[in-house]
Amino acid sequence: MTSPPPRVALLCGASGLVGGYCLTRLVASPVYGRVVVLTRRTLPVADPKVAQVVVDFAQLATVADQLAADHVFCALGTTITKAGSRERFRTVDYGYPTEIAHLTQDRGACHFSLVSALGASPSSRVFYSRIKGELEETVRTAGFASVTVLRPSVIAGPRRESRPAERLSRWLLALAPRAVRPVHADTIAAAMVARAALARPGVEVIASRDIAAAARAGGS
Ligand SMILES: NC(=O)c1ccc[n+]([C@@H]2O[C@H](COP(=O)([O-])OP(=O)(O)OC[C@H]3O[C@@H](n4cnc5c(N)ncnc54)[C@H](OP(=O)(O)O)[C@@H]3O)[C@@H](O)[C@H]2O)c1
Repeated sequence: MTSPPPRVALLCGASGLVGGYCLTRLVASPVYGRVVVLTRRTLPVADPKVAQVVVDFAQLATVADQLAADHVFCALGTTITKAGSRERFRTVDYGYPTEIAHLTQDRGACHFSLVSALGASPSSRVFYSRIKGELEETVRTAGFASVTVLRPSVIAGPRRESRPAERLSRWLLALAPRAVRPVHADTIAAAMVARAALARPGVEVIASRDIAAAARAGGS
């Protein structure tokens, strides 16, 4: 039996915590022959499998032709503090991923993997959760044959910048029920790559408590 031709992955957020692990896993995966990294700054990556598309995300349409891929991985995001305003946060966490979803779907992508967040809902009273919920809705209905949405609680892992609120939550939630316990960034990345390899038709939402099992199902 002949194996299917290697796929092309497109990754957004590769310089971030989840995205960094995701990049390592995509490069190591035999499923992918090419990994396109969409980034706003050049990353110190020198693997022949990796192509970097460097762009100001306010100008995504200018690189549309370079965004053809089979599977799209989105671990993009900011915080309201870093963004400086709610409006700017919405632009980064909703506007950019929405545009990426439409541009890649138009160019033939069949699978979209989204790192959302625990509690995401378009009807949430919490602004952050509402934006994440609205993005989930947009991605669900964008026309991809296969969508995976992961909803982690607080993300654990080695972060260069200091985020005191997250550090405190991680500490407080370490012994909490599994539904809200922190999830390591590499576990999320492993689940994303494992689910993409299956690319099951339809929309799958993976709750925080189930992310580790999804990662293990992929052999990680
Ligand atoms: N932190 C948590 O505990 C937590 C919990 C649940 C869900 N989430 C969500 O999970 C996702 C991944 O989280 P993470 O902690 O891995 O994220 P992260 O480490 O903060 O990385 C975010 C990524 O987004 C990029 N980005 C931010 N602002 C940008 C902009 N204006 N233009 C272009 N790129 C931009 C960053 O690029 P630069 O390196 O260039 O800034 C980086 O690659 C995010 O959507 C986040 O909201 C996080």
